[in-house]
Amino acid sequence: MAKGKKSVFFCQNCGHEENKWLGQCPMCKEWNTFVEETVSIVKSSTVKRTHEADVVALNQVKTECEERIFTRIGELDRVLGGGIVPGSLVLVGGDPGIGKSTLLLQVCQSLCKEKKEVLYISGEESLKQIKLRANRIGDFTEDLYLLCETNLDVVRTIIENRKPSFVVIDSIQTMYNEEVASAPGSVSQVRESTNVLMQLAKGLGISIFIVGHVTKEGTVAGPRVLEHMVDTVLYFEGDRHASYRILRSVKNRFGSTNEIGVFEMRQNGLVEVENPSEFMLNGKPEHAAGSVVACSMEGTRPILIEIQALVCNSNFGMPRRTAAGTDYNRVNLLMAVLEKRAGLHLSNYDAYVNIAGGVKMNEPAIDLGIVMALVSSYKNHPIDEKTIVFGEVGLSGEVRAVNMPEQRVAEAKKLGFETCVIPEVSKEAVKEIKGIKIVGVRNINEAIQLL
Ligand code: TYD
Ligand code: MG
Repeated sequence: MAKGKKSVFFCQNCGHEENKWLGQCPMCKEWNTFVEETVSIVKSSTVKRTHEADVVALNQVKTECEERIFTRIGELDRVLGGGIVPGSLVLVGGDPGIGKSTLLLQVCQSLCKEKKEVLYISGEESLKQIKLRANRIGDFTEDLYLLCETNLDVVRTIIENRKPSFVVIDSIQTMYNEEVASAPGSVSQVRESTNVLMQLAKGLGISIFIVGHVTKEGTVAGPRVLEHMVDTVLYFEGDRHASYRILRSVKNRFGSTNEIGVFEMRQNGLVEVENPSEFMLNGKPEHAAGSVVACSMEGTRPILIEIQALVCNSNFGMPRRTAAGTDYNRVNLLMAVLEKRAGLHLSNYDAYVNIAGGVKMNEPAIDLGIVMALVSSYKNHPIDEKTIVFGEVGLSGEVRAVNMPEQRVAEAKKLGFETCVIPEVSKEAVKEIKGIKIVGVRNINEAIQLL
């Protein structure tokens, strides 16, 4: 092997590094994911040492007011924490075909309108394909500059020469660096490419958005390492067969995480969904047992969702339980609580829980919704349609307080609901809101009694 290089093994699933090949990754427990890659050894003597003069007192650090770039796509701006920060590196992950390229092209379109110089670098599609997509999206008033390139050195030189204010790299898995021996998309290539882009973004103050494909396990292909390197990680998710898409921020150095943006994929690109609750509740069945509306806070926004449960006799000794859109273990736990604290004999029943519309919600505040849906299906007794429920359920069957109850109740009122079943302890916080009936419950038995 050439001097200054060494060979290491990377797990292609999580990016874990080992000196020898292993059958199973000790980090992510995946089998057969180790691949040998060659990396260059950086001599420690070449690293610049910090001199005493580099030490700065916190009070002396100057912060010019960070000026953000607004994309004019409201949902995206909010997820980013109020627009794009100049010099930031943002990773947009998602399944193939979910609409990452479309979203970023729309961002380019809107930034071009603001007279910003924008460069769209694609390693996946030809100029013609990009043009065809652009035609679907609409008019590009100003010119957007395109480049089809996968060699990172060329990309770096062009960015350094042109100094655009916004760059899109579609996708990071196609970029390769000649100095790294392994194939494009491998852990060391992706890591090296991200490193170079990071230096470009910080050095020149350019905002760079990189697209990353997601593996079937739901992580950005190969490197979780990549998530540590970038400033912001956005995931684009949703059912490919349904028309809506959710943009979720899972890491954000410049804003809050767990903020979501909702879009709808139309013939002419992605359109923002102004009122997601209305959208999510679309098509809710009437007078159906096992269906209940709950409220989940996504970042700063309350979103009403329909929880469905189906409880039916089990034909086998082992009852089946499934949970779609929410945590499976949580559903099992809630069923155990129902069995023990409310005396419901669920052990002979199969139970299927689903969050309608294919969204994923994991907030504990939907616990009470899941419980009510299960009980309603078990008793075959529909819940009043104009009722929403929320609250966290504890192991002794108590209904615990949740954060921001006022916002949730206000959202329910806005959408025409008439009753809210909430934790008794949160009642005080919402007493100002008029025009909607508030029912406080202390434990699940009180809630079941309301059915
Ligand atoms: P794309 O942005 O290419 O996905 P990704 O980059 O995440 O792989 O979007 C692909 C899908 O979106 C494709 O199936 C076609 C559909 N689409 C529309 O429905 N309307 C549109 O206006 C566009 C551009 C794409
Ligand atoms: Mg694409």
